Amino acid sequence: MRPRWEARADLVVVGTGVAGLTAALRAHELGLRVLVVTKASGPDGNTRWAQGGVAVVLPGEHDEGDTVGAHIGDTLVAGAGLCDEDAVTAVISGGPAAVERLRERGAVFDAKPDGHLARTREGGHTAFRVVHSGGDATGAEVERALLAATADGRLPVLEQHVAVDALRTPLGVVCGLLVLDGNGVPGAIGAPAVLLASGGLGQLYQATSNPEVATGDGLALAMRAGAMAADVEFVQFHPTVLYTGRGARGRCPLVTEAVRGEGAVLVDATGARVMKGVHPLEDLAPRDVVAAAITRHMATEPGGIDDHVFLDATKLDRMATRFPTVHAACLAAGIDPARDPIPVAPAAHFACGGVMADVDGRTAITGLYAAGEVARTGLHGANRLASNSLLEGLVVGTRAAEAVAADLALGLLADPKTALEPVLPIAPVADRDSLQRVMSRYAAIGRDAEGLAVVGSVLDLSTVDRVLDTRRLVEDAALTLAARALIAAAAERTESRGCHVRTDFTVRDEVRWHRTQAVRLTPTGQPVLADPVMVWGAA
Ligand code: SIN
Repeated sequence: MRPRWEARADLVVVGTGVAGLTAALRAHELGLRVLVVTKASGPDGNTRWAQGGVAVVLPGEHDEGDTVGAHIGDTLVAGAGLCDEDAVTAVISGGPAAVERLRERGAVFDAKPDGHLARTREGGHTAFRVVHSGGDATGAEVERALLAATADGRLPVLEQHVAVDALRTPLGVVCGLLVLDGNGVPGAIGAPAVLLASGGLGQLYQATSNPEVATGDGLALAMRAGAMAADVEFVQFHPTVLYTGRGARGRCPLVTEAVRGEGAVLVDATGARVMKGVHPLEDLAPRDVVAAAITRHMATEPGGIDDHVFLDATKLDRMATRFPTVHAACLAAGIDPARDPIPVAPAAHFACGGVMADVDGRTAITGLYAAGEVARTGLHGANRLASNSLLEGLVVGTRAAEAVAADLALGLLADPKTALEPVLPIAPVADRDSLQRVMSRYAAIGRDAEGLAVVGSVLDLSTVDRVLDTRRLVEDAALTLAARALIAAAAERTESRGCHVRTDFTVRDEVRWHRTQAVRLTPTGQPVLADPVMVWGAA
């Protein structure tokens, strides 16, 4: 089927989360004609679910002794050797200005009685530097402020429009998007620049902190357009989502790490501390360490329980006011955190890898940019430091808009009139339920060669080629491609590092694997490993 409607812009942004809206607003300020598309409603993405906050060292607000350098150091440690140090430095150093710009756009952060910003601590941070809003509703405030800033009508947001494929010139330069509108009618948006800010892929797994829209669409679209992905094997599992019973499905309520940052501890059903002796930072170890420790602990079935542990927050005296979102979720599940330890388990949370892009959002494909969770800038390495993701969206979103404006001004981008006639693509689509089941069983925390091969076989058996003519098919094709890319990279990486935990290769291999791994699509649409890109400090 060919497009039946057309639109034009200088820049089309896919996604209405922190990265997409920040980029769209900045590009609009720079005089670009911007169109934003989202497959759902404006606030429906992942940003609004972020709890803990934004990690940033603000001048005049930080603790004695805390510095941007210390924040960079914590990010590198959390990233387990695979961060790109230049990217880390650029993003973390850009944080203070980005947060100030967000405050100018209307976002309000919690303040202490003396008027200074309140700050909390999360796993892997050596200082109290995470600013927050509404206690534990930081993402909701960020999303509210950014959406409000777009609401004057000068920044058109097309809701219920799903991006299917990139428009390309005969030379493979991206110059727009093929989109399905809310009635499933295909349209072509011609634009010399396309920015993917479409978020992550938590829906690869049965239990996730991510909403149902997190289906890896941007990753798939970029790879089909010829971009490389990297570090896709590093899917971060949040250590503590609320356990609501065996076999939880879909988005599970998060219990922010800040609860541990303010004194709660992980215990098992016998009351024994889970993190005692596991890491010097104990309950505030980096997230990959805590999630893996809980998983190992559950496997020993303490007190006969093998699928959750408990977060003891009974000694926190301000739970209801400091963490209202978590408190309400607990009460809704019949748990009073003042009295009862909160049952928690790890769940898929964040894609540390993604479309290879620099900190200005540029990918290797002219006209295609990526920012936020969909992108792999090198900030996160093998494991993201808590509360660095909203920060990345703010910094890279701004920089990407500025990069697009610069590239346009230099005449580096293609005229959409030169696009090849777009047609809806045909792509392999697996059954979502089977995919989520095998991914959760064999490609979560604790993977081995045999299990990853089982995922491949199940995908083979349940996959058929389909024309991507509905949102559901676009999403299922994206999940299928993302799963295949992930298992290819995970099978190859014969070590355990960061969020990638192998039960058959349990140690970190600095000689062979101190490097990132790229994946690309073959002309027939198979994800294959590409030439590895060496990272800073690699041998
Ligand atoms: C949390 O609040 O624990 C999650 C924050 C994050 O993922 O950075």
